Amino acid sequence: MRHKLALFIFLLLPAASHADDGNAEAGASAFKSRCMACHAMDKNKIGPHLSGVYGRKAGAVEDYKYSDALAASGIVWDDKKLDEWLAGPQKMVPGQKMNISVPDAKTRADIIAHLKTQK
Ligand code: HEC
Repeated sequence: MRHKLALFIFLLLPAASHADDGNAEAGASAFKSRCMACHAMDKNKIGPHLSGVYGRKAGAVEDYKYSDALAASGIVWDDKKLDEWLAGPQKMVPGQKMNISVPDAKTRADIIAHLKTQK
C-alpha cells in the first residue's frame, strides 16, 4: 500500500512544478513534434525562423511575410508573451495566421525553455 502512495505522489510532481521552470530538453522534443512542420531555426518555412526569437520583437524577421496583425502587435517575446501566444495565438492577436495552440502549460514552459537556448 505504501509504495502505491509513493508512486501516486511521484506522478503528481511534474504537474506541480512551476510553469516558468521549463525543461529545455523536453521542450526540444515537443518542438520537433509540434512546431517543426512550420518552423526551423535557420530558415523560414510556413512560419518565420525562430532562432533568437526570445527577446525579439514580434514580426521582425525581414524576409518573412507576417500577417498585418502580428506585424503591428508591438509584442516583445518574453516568457509571458510566448506563453500567451502558444496558449491561444488568435485570442492574443486576432487576425494572426498561426493556426495551432499548445493547451498544456507545462509543455508550453518546456518549449519556451528550448526557444531560449536557440540564439
Ligand atoms: C501550422 C503551422 C505552424 C505551426 C505548427 C507552428 N507555427 Fe508558429 N507560426 C506560424 C505562422 C504562419 C506564423 C506567423 C504568424 C503571423 O504572421 O500572423 C508563426 C509565428 C510564430 C511566432 C512569432 C514569430 C515572430 O517572429 O514574431 C512564434 C514565437 C511561433 N510561431 C512559435 C511557434 C511554436 C513554439 C510552435 C510549436 C508549438 C509553433 N509556432 C507551431 C505557423 C506555425
